[in-house]
Amino acid sequence: MLSIEKPTTETIKRTTSGSAPVSKTATVSFDGKSIDLPVTVGTENEVGIDIAQLRAKTGWITLDDGYGNTGACTSDITFIDGEAGILRYRGYPIEELAEKSTFVEVAYLLLFGELPSAAQLQDFRDHLTHYQFIHEDLRHTLQGFPPAAPPMAILSAMITAAGCFEPALMEGFDDHRTAELAARVMSRVRTIAAAAYKKAKGRPMIYPKSDLPYVANFLHMMFSKPYMDYQPDPEMVRALDQIFILHADHEQNCSTSTVRMVGSAKANLWASIAAGVCALWGPLHGGANMEVIDMLTRIHQGGESVSSFMAKVKDKTANVKLMGFGHRVYKNFDPRAKIIKTACDRVLAKLGIHDPLLDIAKQLEEVALRDSYFVERKLYPNVDFYSGIIMRAMGIPTDMFTVMFAIGRIPGWISHWREVNLNPNGRINRPRQIYTGPTNRAYVPIEQRPK
Ligand code: ACO
Repeated sequence: MLSIEKPTTETIKRTTSGSAPVSKTATVSFDGKSIDLPVTVGTENEVGIDIAQLRAKTGWITLDDGYGNTGACTSDITFIDGEAGILRYRGYPIEELAEKSTFVEVAYLLLFGELPSAAQLQDFRDHLTHYQFIHEDLRHTLQGFPPAAPPMAILSAMITAAGCFEPALMEGFDDHRTAELAARVMSRVRTIAAAAYKKAKGRPMIYPKSDLPYVANFLHMMFSKPYMDYQPDPEMVRALDQIFILHADHEQNCSTSTVRMVGSAKANLWASIAAGVCALWGPLHGGANMEVIDMLTRIHQGGESVSSFMAKVKDKTANVKLMGFGHRVYKNFDPRAKIIKTACDRVLAKLGIHDPLLDIAKQLEEVALRDSYFVERKLYPNVDFYSGIIMRAMGIPTDMFTVMFAIGRIPGWISHWREVNLNPNGRINRPRQIYTGPTNRAYVPIEQRPK
């Protein structure tokens, strides 16, 4: 029998960012013996029992399928209180950043921990402009993809390929070059994403323009045509900038944990980010924004009522989920969803668009928030529920939605990769398992196996 005596709040002290974690202990009783395990307390009083010595002292490990209770690291970057619906980047509430900041400034904040001075921000912007072009040979790589290739596949492959053109930067981590490295990746990912879109449409790639800021430049590469420049509406630029801010980091989610995992093996930034893109692609993660629009479209085109769809969602045998709802950490409103819903109303009103999918989304939300199935399971709209509707209104095709998420998440991934590389005690990430397969057995020659 193993039991854990939790530390009381009186026995633990808060640690401040950057200082050594305060070590108090939790007592684990095991087969009549007791061992003390250290406890780490975060700046927001989150408590974690450090089990690094558990196996050495007891022979046992912890088992946590899906990592719902496992803290994989300490991190200074992003704080989430899922019960209270709080999200902060480096201490700054997401609501304030979404209203007052810009994506490029937020990227700087995530990367370096502080809001930049005017000079630092300009310097970072100059870096982004300087590194906005991809190598011309990468255009040939792009041509090799079939017309129907998913943009997320193109994005991850092209990021890995782009790294091949920067061999010196692939060598090892050098924090003096973080700003340059981050700007190279952030800027080029944006150029690659727009090029992937043009490729899918069978249209010529549009080069970036040095006089445009980050988001306007992206919209230019997406929607300009040769000799016909697209004039981005400032309201659209602001809305997309806000979407990128809201997606910029979300602590130890699936894709970020992937980036950290790959980075822990000392893999270079391109390889680590490309792995993050692949994880994000999954429909239970970043791919959910596409699934939401597919779901709403199916309901709309099939003329299905909201109540009939919701009945299927609640019927466990139907295998239907309300996409864009639920979250591993948020057991209250996802604060990003609130901001996006407001932006959605603003953008659609500005564009004079009435989207029936928005009506359906609002009806689904209204029903869900009153229905005991969702209330008991604490299922609320997540960031993906309304983001697709804004992007659709902007003319961004559904299969590019997850790519948009990836562009937004790049600064977060780089910040985590940097944190992994800066950790002097960092080790390769390598979980253990409880083996449940066959025990030792003798090899059976093929002629003796059942026909
Ligand atoms: N629709 C219907 N039921 C749901 C939903 C949903 N969207 N989400 C969770 N549930 C149910 C589960 O079936 C389960 O029910 P049960 O207790 O009767 O078995 C219960 O709620 C708990 O859900 P879990 O799957 O255990 O929650 P988990 O933390 O593992 O998964 C996830 C979180 C993947 C986000 C899940 O809520 C989901 O699949 N949502 C839809 C996909 C989605 O929107 N993903 C985007 C997440 S945000 C992001 O990654 C950017």
